[in-house]
Amino acid sequence: MNRFKGQTVIVTGGATGIGFAAAKLFTIEGANVVIASRDEQNGLRACNELKEIGGQPLFVQTDISDEGAVQHLMNRALEQTERIDVLVNNAAMFYESEFLKETTDRWRAVFDTIVNGAYWCSKYAADAMVQRNISGKIVNVSSINGYRALQLSSHYNAAKGALDQLTRCTALELSPYGIRVNGVAPGFIDTALSVIGGVNELETEQFQQYYVQQRKIPQARAGTVDEVASVIAFLSSEASSYIQGAIIPVDGGLSITF
Ligand SMILES: NC(=O)c1ccc[n+]([C@@H]2O[C@H](COP(=O)([O-])OP(=O)(O)OC[C@H]3O[C@@H](n4cnc5c(N)ncnc54)[C@H](O)[C@@H]3O)[C@@H](O)[C@H]2O)c1
Repeated sequence: MNRFKGQTVIVTGGATGIGFAAAKLFTIEGANVVIASRDEQNGLRACNELKEIGGQPLFVQTDISDEGAVQHLMNRALEQTERIDVLVNNAAMFYESEFLKETTDRWRAVFDTIVNGAYWCSKYAADAMVQRNISGKIVNVSSINGYRALQLSSHYNAAKGALDQLTRCTALELSPYGIRVNGVAPGFIDTALSVIGGVNELETEQFQQYYVQQRKIPQARAGTVDEVASVIAFLSSEASSYIQGAIIPVDGGLSITF
């Protein structure tokens, strides 16, 4: 398939994990991918891998929690390709902390990336789409934590919940311009984000017992980055033309259980 031939796709946090899997899939399907990442080394390494599979990626070192940096990102993408067709708001961070011990600075940093970063990226990308009469797509990478409570992550859960409302509200407001906005809500996916305090939580006895053997995850396993990337690509393609403002769980059934 060549679903994204000639299209420009921006993936924030696109140098690793789910974002990089999406960047690879978009590249294979003909897109010009722009990787926005804070980390220069990871960004350049990711671009080299995309070149090896025939892509012409652009890396723009970007901290999306900085509005000026996001404007620079959009300007560089437009300079290079003169269009923006798809934005994937994927960048995020996760750490465990007790609510009563959380600090305002750390709380703000999480919201600045997950909520404000997605807001600035969506606003400037959508503006570029509208100016050029492009029926663009925005896909927000949320989490099942956006609508389920989990211990030790009130900062992340609250931010993902806000991101879900940004998805619905921008879907509503951008619909008249032909822009579609949707989200994916991954469950447990094996990436760097699963490593907490140096331990991969997916490999712990507790995870294996509760989520796998007792089938708290009905499919009894963690997901892969490619299984999320394929849904991101679906939501960015015409195959999802009548889906607007939806947030699709990609969690092996975890969120249907209690
Ligand atoms: N791995 C999981 O189990 C899981 C579950 C639910 C949701 N998610 C979501 O999937 C998305 C991707 O995460 P991942 O699991 O691939 O982990 P990851 O750590 O590999 O990816 C996150 C990327 O975001 C980048 N990033 C963080 N803050 C940034 C900033 N301010 N500016 C620019 N880049 C920034 C990081 O450098 C990293 O490359 C995130 O939104 C995450 O919340 C992951």
